[in-house]
Amino acid sequence: MKVGIIYNVVSEIARGNPIDIIAEQDILNTVHCVEDALRAAGHEVKLIHVDDNLYENLRAVKLDLVFNLGEGIGSNILAEAYIPAMLDMVGIPYTGSNFLTLSVCLDKAKTKQILLSMGLPTARFQIFKSPADELDLSLKFPMIVKPIHEDASIGITNESVVKDEEQLRKRIAYVIETYKQNALAEEFIEGREVNVSIIGNRDPIALPIEELQFTNFSESAYKICSYQAKWIPNSEEFQKTIPVCPAQLPKNVENRIKRLALAAYKVMECQDYARIDIRIDKDNNSYILEVNPNPDIGPVDTAFTRAAAANSISYNELITKILDYAIERQHSEKRVEEKIRLIEI
Ligand SMILES: Nc1ncnc2c1ncn2[C@@H]1O[C@H](COP(=O)(O)OP(=O)(O)O)[C@@H](O)[C@H]1O
Ligand SMILES: [Mg+2]
Repeated sequence: MKVGIIYNVVSEIARGNPIDIIAEQDILNTVHCVEDALRAAGHEVKLIHVDDNLYENLRAVKLDLVFNLGEGIGSNILAEAYIPAMLDMVGIPYTGSNFLTLSVCLDKAKTKQILLSMGLPTARFQIFKSPADELDLSLKFPMIVKPIHEDASIGITNESVVKDEEQLRKRIAYVIETYKQNALAEEFIEGREVNVSIIGNRDPIALPIEELQFTNFSESAYKICSYQAKWIPNSEEFQKTIPVCPAQLPKNVENRIKRLALAAYKVMECQDYARIDIRIDKDNNSYILEVNPNPDIGPVDTAFTRAAAANSISYNELITKILDYAIERQHSEKRVEEKIRLIEI
């Protein structure tokens, strides 16, 4: 098949801190490894860098399918959702979720509202448009304040966790000012952190659960996956955050977490692959933090590839599986369309 790989490299960040560029530029290595995996499977590959002419380029190019690694257009992360929308418009099938799932999951609060409406647990929260907004006094401290639209731990530091209203308002002001978006304040879930990587469509499969262990953190450091812990290898937080896959959990907890993750995957209508981040409190209650459609599938040091490896799926197999799920999905969508046409006739 002739497969295009769409990807976006951010050369300049329009908001946030200069250091946030590390997370934004992580994609290039992934692009080359996905390219190698697709070529090894016998496909012809064309790299398509996202620019202002993406729509015209997609109209002009002849492709059987796109492997979508696009995370935005320029520095506009909300535009991540425009990429599948453009592919739908030009009629090229693609891997991963559609524009609706991407847009909703890019809004952490909207996602939580949908999960809650379907009876799925997530930490209690409030959206702040301004640091002066009235505080919902039923929320319990400590809380954690996050930018509502970022991912990859952007905007998350030890100072994100706040103990009282004064710290809360200060951090909300920082997030709104620095990241130019609303702030999401949630109750802080003290406990273990896991994530579940999922593949497939009609009968999606939960891969082995990964735990992020926060080992020997000092008293003053909150056990969270902060920006430092995720991206800065010489930081203490990075070195003390140890991924363990498969996570050692009681069987009943493991089953419940997998069921919960699969339910979230289905509710958000994820396609082909996604990762669900979850915290477990000391009483074994679990809370979905967020749903990540089209998650990071970089070959080294990513939750998704560790989960695949724990299930004996090699990197190249993972990439071809994602492609095959997209192809299979397209065929079943076509069959449904044909059935509808027949009924109409
Ligand atoms: N309600 C919460 N309670 C405890 N820790 C949290 C909570 N929300 C987020 N965190 C911590 O912050 C990290 C990043 O938050 P997350 O919602 O997953 O955003 P991102 O899109 O940046 O990954 C999580 O991996 C977790 O360690
Ligand atoms: Mg996360």
